[in-house]
Amino acid sequence: EQIEKGGYDHFMLKEIYEQPSVIKDTYRGRLHVNNGIIQMAGIEDNLEKFLNAERILIIACGTSWHAGLVAEYIIEEFARISVEVEYASEFRYRNPIITNKDVVIAISQSGETADTLAAIKLAKENGAFVFGVCNVVGSSISRETHAGAYTHAGPEIGVASTKAFTTQITVLTMIALRLAKAKGTMSNTEFHTHLQELELIPEKVTETLALSEVIAKEIAAIYKEVPNCLYLGRGYNFPVALEGALKLKEISYIHAEGYPAAEMKHGPIALIDEKMPVVVIAPKQGHYDKVVSNIQEIKSRSGKIIAVVSKGDTQVKALADHFIEIPETLDAFTPLLTTIPLQLLSYHIAVMRGCNVDQPRNLAKSVTVE
Ligand code: G6P
Repeated sequence: EQIEKGGYDHFMLKEIYEQPSVIKDTYRGRLHVNNGIIQMAGIEDNLEKFLNAERILIIACGTSWHAGLVAEYIIEEFARISVEVEYASEFRYRNPIITNKDVVIAISQSGETADTLAAIKLAKENGAFVFGVCNVVGSSISRETHAGAYTHAGPEIGVASTKAFTTQITVLTMIALRLAKAKGTMSNTEFHTHLQELELIPEKVTETLALSEVIAKEIAAIYKEVPNCLYLGRGYNFPVALEGALKLKEISYIHAEGYPAAEMKHGPIALIDEKMPVVVIAPKQGHYDKVVSNIQEIKSRSGKIIAVVSKGDTQVKALADHFIEIPETLDAFTPLLTTIPLQLLSYHIAVMRGCNVDQPRNLAKSVTVE
């Protein structure tokens, strides 16, 4: 097992560090920056189905559902196709409206999640075209779907999903870009800028990973004993807030909640006092000014602010108790970078608390029963 961990203390840490290379593996052969094209066989063969879709329905569970939420924002923005994201377990039992004008995207790392599989069967019975985004080749979901695109994350052993999440976002981003190109909803210049920037993401992830020690010493060590933690983000980074909170819950057993930053005033703000750490995802792009005012609201209630900011930021840094600086990228690609410090934060806290990081209590890597 030590050999399999490749010198890392845990599979989770190894998998966090593999992200630059597996993101590259996922876009390799699909993203052609020089020719200005994105080519994915599963999409090319079924392009008409996507272009004629009245809406795209994304179904998934857990972390894959969070990747689906990021995709909702990206597909709607780039390709202007209406997207709905559903928990597979809710979808399958609520007599959903599905027609042959729907394209369903099922996201699953393992390809074996029982609820997702059942939701796929239901969608197919009702005439929808079902496209899979799976990591495990030959898995049940990859066989049950009409077509698909694999992530190339390699085996993910740690129960808490990390590299599967960022590679799912990579695949879904490429799908969004391909559809945008076909629909003409993005200018050629913009399309090209996104292709170029996507290619640079792995090196920016590497740069972000270098913050691991600082995150451990300056943040995790201080907050490792807190009972609660709040995660806030807006836009593309709202799902990242959910995913950051999920990671902390899963492996450190600290109660954490992710929230869209603006919803804070409708409830969670009541929880804020000097004992409450609030992780705020505040890259320069997106709704920066709005997030700054959310941070001011937390500060005036004495909450402790841990901010994820873009390099060169001054405004948020001046307000935050701790900050983590990530490289700049395009708004839609920020989740691929902002996720990294949140994975590292929960990892270090869990290790410091003596938790079983790779196999947290009560959780399974793949939930093959209801
Ligand atoms: C379990 C795992 C999660 C995963 C979820 C969905 O709960 O512990 O890490 O996100 O299942 O799994 P899937 O394989 O369908 O992505």
